[in-house]
Amino acid sequence: MSGSVTPKRLFIKTYGCQMNVYDSERMADVLAPLGYGMTDTPEDADLVVLNTCHIREKATEKVYSELGQIKRMKQARAEAGGAMTIAVAGCVAQAEGEEIMRRQPAVDLVVGPQAYHQLPELIARAHRARGERLAADFAPDEKFDALGAGRRPSGVSAFLTVQEGCDKFCTFCVVPYTRGGEWSRPAAAVEAEARALADMGVREVTLLGQNVNAYAAPDMQGGLAALVRRLAKIPGLDRIRYTTSHPRDMDEALIAAHAEVPELMPYLHLPVQAGSDRVLKAMNRAHTAESYLRLIETIRAARPDIAISGDFIVGFPGERDADFEATLQLVREVGYASAFSFKYSRRPGTPAAAMPGQVAPEVADERLQRLLALLETQQQAFNDAQAGRTLPVLFEKVGRHPGQLIGRSPYLQAVHVTAPDRMLGQIVPVKVQSAARNSLAGALELEQA
Ligand code: SAH
Ligand code: SF4
Ligand code: F3S
Repeated sequence: MSGSVTPKRLFIKTYGCQMNVYDSERMADVLAPLGYGMTDTPEDADLVVLNTCHIREKATEKVYSELGQIKRMKQARAEAGGAMTIAVAGCVAQAEGEEIMRRQPAVDLVVGPQAYHQLPELIARAHRARGERLAADFAPDEKFDALGAGRRPSGVSAFLTVQEGCDKFCTFCVVPYTRGGEWSRPAAAVEAEARALADMGVREVTLLGQNVNAYAAPDMQGGLAALVRRLAKIPGLDRIRYTTSHPRDMDEALIAAHAEVPELMPYLHLPVQAGSDRVLKAMNRAHTAESYLRLIETIRAARPDIAISGDFIVGFPGERDADFEATLQLVREVGYASAFSFKYSRRPGTPAAAMPGQVAPEVADERLQRLLALLETQQQAFNDAQAGRTLPVLFEKVGRHPGQLIGRSPYLQAVHVTAPDRMLGQIVPVKVQSAARNSLAGALELEQA
């Protein structure tokens, strides 16, 4: 771009899932040609973007309290003769666009997840006048066409959004409303971006989608499994991951890919939400505890060492003690390598919000603590089982201690190793010496060090 753009500072705060992380990076890319460089402090930013999450009440409320603080910074800037533009992006923007402007008039513009390519124009418009400030219409194709170019990855592992939206309508969830229906990017566009990333030194991509295993390319047969096989051929791209998957879309081809494609990492995030069929039915999950367990069995038959991860909700309306016990029982049967557990949060407009039998917060709290305790034991056990093994580790960054690098095992565990900086970006065999709940410690084999 021309050398005449005035340098400006951009602060982005990201909430929610990895799709938002990916989108925040794309927003930074699209704003760079306008002279925006990143800053870590909102106080001195010319443009503040909050990329928001609507999934639980707490996530949404955080945005409003953050906006209160940023408003004061904006006022301080104005008093000092400067100016700050405040933009709200992400799922709260999509769900509550006009309400945000009403609740916090300091906000200059609101932009939904499908409209980030319009950011430069929206900012220009906000600067000219405080008129029409909403852009929350769906047009994902345009979004990715405009955002895909000019990517600058920041490490050796990168996110790559391949699918957006959700048609599943679990009764507790806002995603189908904030991100729209299921939509897949063309395989050719995904491959082009993956090749560009590999050329820039990326060794690992994580394919993202709210329902990534529902991926159905408009320009290729065969779903996510075919995409994985296609990307696995790209020279330099040694590791492929994907998240998040719905049990319903876990097809045979994808399971076979886990057995046959060495680049596909042995890690699967497959949320089950609950272990009681009564609750699963009320959640509209379209699977039972039994069908989920059978699916896990099939996946493990294909790839015995695969690490299974999941999401859980406790305190869903109508959940009784016996239902919760069924969740604990399912967890015992699966044996999770990691998991995320949430207390049910009532989201206005979703079917579950109107269901009878809302569970008392103390009851949900107690269940959450018991579930967390069990899952933590399982995570520790999974990590302990790696001790003594030699695992290929992709070194991603320098550690806190001098001479230390941090990498990832195939099972997504963080691994701390004393290793020379030149090994950053390499995949190196590491002997695992000890295991904590959230990381492993290991050593290089002698001849490498
Ligand atoms: N598409 C993904 C999940 C996206 S949301 C899937 O189906 O697996 C991430 C997680 O947030 C969900 O798996 C669920 O466990 C949790 N979640 C969603 N809505 C929630 C709510 N209303 N209250 C509590 N947790 C919720
Ligand atoms: Fe939400 Fe269910 Fe869709 Fe996941 S599958 S995004 S939990 S509606
Ligand atoms: Fe949150 Fe939207 Fe992701 S609601 S979890 S940021 S899809």
